Amino acid sequence: MSSSSLHHEPTASGLISLFGKKFGGEARIFRAPGRVNLIGEHTDYNDGFVLPSAIGFYTYVAAGKRPDCELIAYSDLFEEEITLSLEELAGPPRRHWGDFIRGVAAMLQQAGYRLSGTNLAIHGEVPGGAGLSSSASLEVALALALAAVAGVHPSRLELVKLCQKAEHEYVGTRCGIMDQFAVSFSQEGSALFLDCRSLEYRQLPIPQGLRLVVCNSMVRHELASGEYNLRRADCESGVKLLRAHLPAATALRDVEPADLVRYRQELPEQIYRRCRHVVTENQRVFKAVAALEAADPEQFGRLMYESHASLRDDYGVSCKELDLLVAIASAVPGVFGARMTGGGFGGCTVNLVCADSVDGFQSRIAQAYLKETGITPQVYVCEPAQGASEWKGRADF
Ligand code: GLA
Repeated sequence: MSSSSLHHEPTASGLISLFGKKFGGEARIFRAPGRVNLIGEHTDYNDGFVLPSAIGFYTYVAAGKRPDCELIAYSDLFEEEITLSLEELAGPPRRHWGDFIRGVAAMLQQAGYRLSGTNLAIHGEVPGGAGLSSSASLEVALALALAAVAGVHPSRLELVKLCQKAEHEYVGTRCGIMDQFAVSFSQEGSALFLDCRSLEYRQLPIPQGLRLVVCNSMVRHELASGEYNLRRADCESGVKLLRAHLPAATALRDVEPADLVRYRQELPEQIYRRCRHVVTENQRVFKAVAALEAADPEQFGRLMYESHASLRDDYGVSCKELDLLVAIASAVPGVFGARMTGGGFGGCTVNLVCADSVDGFQSRIAQAYLKETGITPQVYVCEPAQGASEWKGRADF
């Protein structure tokens, strides 16, 4: 079994020496975590509600000023260095990690922030293509680093929005705001209940005796591959059709389950199902928040299973490996609920598990999944973590 807790050894000393070796000179370090979404999937770009929590995997960015107009970035994950000019950032997605750097820098500049030439050394711990927001964590850490080196001060919220825009325009995924928001605003020990329209949010403490356990199916997803954007387009088509009857609706957020039943005939079957997922998922988020506040993990868990079924059957974003992980989890004692998390098409499940049952759960899920698929899953026991910040690291470097 491959399993790990998310308490990694801090890597800043390694990063500082990497930066020193590559570029020399002084650096400041910024880091942003990944996130797991407890419930409220594919609701964010429908102006709906989400309940994510940051997890203790981080992307670290060490940054120092250059005297010219260049951004030179080294990623230890890709073992590659790229050079970009601050004067020539425009252009379509290139399907390369440099798109994140181009995008974040371009968006900051377009918003009127004058950037400086910057050396960047990047270390990523968030598993990529796993639905844990490695992209948003890179974007937000980069944005904090570039702004700090240039001595400019956009607000946290502005940075979140600029990072989302970078992903739309430079990476090609028309994502919602959940990931960038969660990696920026999450607080240790809590889940973040976010209204994706008003951007009002509340931190909800996760009760002590519960653990969030993330199981990686090891099937990589590719959000930018088009399916994600197609789902978003289906939702927008649904709203357009429903507006004939609900003129005030600007997003699926404004549609009630009863409206959908009433106007079902107006919608092609596939669009109807996509809309039904979103509309019912918003309701599940409210119920899940109430369950968390009432310390009722059984009810919370039931809602997670319902969410998974809806994502699988109506939204069409699960896959057989994720379904299998959920099915295995549902039969393990001490598991309250399980569902796929993030965009889907592979990636991870999130499981709500009684703290005392975590060890048994880890070995059971790893064995059963390996037996069925021949794949060893990674299992991470998560502590809800603090959002992005400058990182001073440990005292010994
Ligand atoms: C990805 C996107 C988010 C959100 C989720 C699905 O993580 O980046 O904006 O839409 O998928 O809930």
